[in-house]
Amino acid sequence: MNYKLALIGFPVAHSLSPRMHNAALRALQLDGEYRALAVAPEQLEVTLHDLVTQRYRGVNVTTPHKQAVTAFMHELSNAARAIGAVNTIVIDDVRLIGHNTDALGFMRGLEQAHFDPAQRSVLVLGAGGAARAAMYALKQAGAQVFIWNRTRARAEQLAHKFGAVVCDDMNASVDLIVNTTSVGMTPHVEESAITLADRLDGTIVYDLVYNPRETKLLREARARGARTIGGIEMLIQQGAESFCLWTGRAAPLEIMRAAVAAV
Ligand code: ATR
Repeated sequence: MNYKLALIGFPVAHSLSPRMHNAALRALQLDGEYRALAVAPEQLEVTLHDLVTQRYRGVNVTTPHKQAVTAFMHELSNAARAIGAVNTIVIDDVRLIGHNTDALGFMRGLEQAHFDPAQRSVLVLGAGGAARAAMYALKQAGAQVFIWNRTRARAEQLAHKFGAVVCDDMNASVDLIVNTTSVGMTPHVEESAITLADRLDGTIVYDLVYNPRETKLLREARARGARTIGGIEMLIQQGAESFCLWTGRAAPLEIMRAAVAAV
């Protein structure tokens, strides 16, 4: 089989996924290629059609299409349906099957830090597609979830959907703070989604942004005594799960980790 794989998003030039998946294909001696395609919102439907016609096997979906693509799927996994967003499409002949591997990737990032969210309080910053996956995972794991978003109405929507509580006080004392917004991402490295409390001993701060590896939020959190988790492990873990869905093979995690570490 020739594994024709693609990432669709807008923009996609910064993505590390091609590097990671092409290294994995080579390591397992599988034929194929993973390409990043810049797809504007108005091109989404026709692009999906083209990928099917060209016999692509799999697609990763990123901002701003994760929610919009759900409408074009023939089938959704339970997680994708509950989250309301798709980041991985398996093309089975002409059928598009939508999955979401972000929630699993998110949880594996927490596991690496030995943090079990059961009965713990968590503040999620943001209310986009990444926030949905994080909130779904956290609620499934038994956490008490608070949400803050710049646009409060979106926070209210997600709070309602996932059984969370809207939080206006960004300095509420919680066990875990998760940044799902894009604030702090290159080139805006001097920005941070929130102003942190003076001391954060015993708190974990998890930033889903992976570029730069240590964001301003994480740097400030570390200076205040918090433990920090960057977004690179979630990137690798969600990618590994997608790779497995497309190829049926266990992803070569160390190869994928090395491929993104080299950047
Ligand atoms: P994704 O799918 O990557 O989560 P998204 O759906 O576009 O992307 O959501 C982006 C999130 O980042 C939103 O929560 C957005 O806040 P708004 O709902 O108020 O737009 C948040 N965000 C983006 N830029 C921000 C900024 N400069 N300050 C605060 N929040 C920001």
